Amino acid sequence: MQRGSGQVGDPAAASQQAEPAISSPSATTWLVAWHGDLAAWLDQLGWLRTLSDWLTAELGPVHERYRDNLVVELLHGGRWVGHPLHPALSDLPIGLWAGVMVLDATDRDRASQRGIDAAGMLSAAGILAAGATALTGLNDWTVSNDQDRRVGLFHGLLNTVALGLQGASLGTRVAGHRGTARALGAASLAVTAAAGYLGGHLVFTKGVMVSRVAWAIEPRRWTRVLQEADLPDESPAAVVAEGRQIMLYRHRGTLYAIDNICSHAGGLLSRGPVADLTVTCPLHGSRFGLADGCVSRGPASQPQPVLPTRIRNGWIEVRGSQPAPRRPAKGRTQP
Ligand code: FES
Repeated sequence: MQRGSGQVGDPAAASQQAEPAISSPSATTWLVAWHGDLAAWLDQLGWLRTLSDWLTAELGPVHERYRDNLVVELLHGGRWVGHPLHPALSDLPIGLWAGVMVLDATDRDRASQRGIDAAGMLSAAGILAAGATALTGLNDWTVSNDQDRRVGLFHGLLNTVALGLQGASLGTRVAGHRGTARALGAASLAVTAAAGYLGGHLVFTKGVMVSRVAWAIEPRRWTRVLQEADLPDESPAAVVAEGRQIMLYRHRGTLYAIDNICSHAGGLLSRGPVADLTVTCPLHGSRFGLADGCVSRGPASQPQPVLPTRIRNGWIEVRGSQPAPRRPAKGRTQP
């Protein structure tokens, strides 16, 4: 196959340019942009903002007062689970209520029947699971920010509607009105799917409750970040090495360096207080040990990466977790 050079005047390139567009730009743009537009539209709803602000004012102080409570931390998932609990729990009601749909769709007995059948059992189990999922979601919501908070609230409201529909479905099912129960169950699952989509948007598009330091590996070589004389004792300093934000701290002559971006939601740790070699994130109060980066209080579930440090010629130098391989000495070949 002959290939053109791709330069102006090249016949092959000219024929490529002459090819018709395969679809209209506006249609393709809408297809790939509607989810972002939806989140932006939700974010500017006045009533949603008002409700979000009111709930924040009511629940924020409560979460702050009880954030040392182990139950509150466990509802986040926290350091023991290693990742958030809410997304895992949310699979339960979705799966159980999908099971209700399958049983209803394959049930040939249309006679009115009082009491609870297999589909009713799944429906009830899903309602219980949805209650636990809502509790963890509400707990996570109190430590979210800005647009994520508004979209998260709408996600929660949809789930509340779905829970109400499923409850009504179970009630009518037990009363023997199977046709109504099926319709309400189907409506509940449809609303749950819409809520689940918004939950996916929050996690996969916005990175809510996803570790903000998962890709932090730079710098690959020892890099100067600050003159030693410019780092006061017992006072955090923010520095940057190859784009990575790092917090430095010196205590009794020992240097500590950890990622400055909080693994929970990106708070700047250098702006938080340090006590007993533990830094508290100023955004939602996660605590990390400076020596090992371990979480000693959530909502963070992932530790802060720790960077090795050294002092050379009066400069503090740091290096990331994946140092570049040594260059082979001149004249030698690598095995
Ligand atoms: S950003 Fe939430 S605890 Fe740090």
